Amino acid sequence: MSEAPHKAPIKTPAQLVAAVIAGFAVPIIIIVLLAIYVDNSTRTGAGTDSLSEAEVTARIKPLAQVEIRDANAPRVYKSGEEVYKAVCSACHASGAAGAPKFTNTADWAPRIAQGFDTLLHTALAGKGAMPPRGGTSPDDYSDFEIARAVAYMANNSGASFPEPAQPAAGAAAASGATAAAPAGASDAGAAQAAAALAAMASVPQAAAPAAGATGADASQAGKALYQQVCQACHAAGVLNAPKFGDKEAWAPRLKEPMDTVYNYALHGKGAMPPKGGSNASDADVKAAVDYMVSAAK
Ligand code: HEC
Ligand code: HEC
Repeated sequence: MSEAPHKAPIKTPAQLVAAVIAGFAVPIIIIVLLAIYVDNSTRTGAGTDSLSEAEVTARIKPLAQVEIRDANAPRVYKSGEEVYKAVCSACHASGAAGAPKFTNTADWAPRIAQGFDTLLHTALAGKGAMPPRGGTSPDDYSDFEIARAVAYMANNSGASFPEPAQPAAGAAAASGATAAAPAGASDAGAAQAAAALAAMASVPQAAAPAAGATGADASQAGKALYQQVCQACHAAGVLNAPKFGDKEAWAPRLKEPMDTVYNYALHGKGAMPPKGGSNASDADVKAAVDYMVSAAK
């Protein structure tokens, strides 16, 4: 009875050592295998080498990027249609904010009658809810490109303006404004408007010499500007403009304060385009108003 009744599996010191090692090693191996199994998906996180160089570049690229343009490279101008689609259609496609709707001839007819130069001027300078240049900067869209967009919109809405002339290489962007030729108004209908357009054909260029007059020769400048610009409509009363020297036509208008009358001449009123469609200085336009008003008193 001195012998143990059962047979112990570990009988030698070597077996004991093996059993202890196995006791530690087996769970560890199982844990490692389980961990690998659980984490078996492809690793793409930081600290792994699975990110390609392209992905890394895309992730660390700066938020803002500067586009470098070669100022000497020949400029590729966008077409009127491209500018319209990119910018102007935001309002003009639906007629948002009271914008004249693209291809709606009724919306456009009275505006087309103002002549291309006036439309372009409005597009560049803004009017009411129409932001200057449709809200773009001159760096993005040159005057020439805006002019093309105006021609594109107007021509799809009843006008037949010629494609604006491309500015000569190296010419200042601003020259695009005057490069655009005034249009034939055959489609616009109103004979009066056509007459006014014909009379205004040379307005922007002709107005230049009058600019810059100051002080004592202001009345001279006023008379000169009247002869160059305003008389196109005001001499004969085109488009119902109050006729030069016609006291009856002017009397009701002169009941308003002079500042109001100046304002109409500077910013337009009905068929009267801002500054008569010219690019004369404010002072010269006021002088022309004074000249016309003094003749009607
Ligand atoms: C944010 C809206 C908006 C955008 C963008 C816009 N317009 Fe206009 N546009 C208007 C509104 C509103 C009017 C009517 C203004 C009025 O008669 O008071 C108008 C009127 C015009 C007229 C007629 C002006 C006149 O003398 O009767 C022209 C031409 C014009 N837009 C050209 C353009 C061009 C070219 C672009 C793109 C480069 C453009 N617009 C982008 C809102 C917009
Ligand atoms: C395209 C034709 C046209 C041209 C060019 C023109 N006008 Fe007029 N003008 C009109 C019409 C039309 C009216 C009447 C507007 C109305 O009452 O609706 C008018 C009205 C006026 C009025 C009266 C506004 C008022 O009711 O108190 C003044 C002032 C005036 N114009 C000044 C000028 C001056 C200055 C120039 C030249 C720089 C000029 N106009 C060029 C068409 C023109």
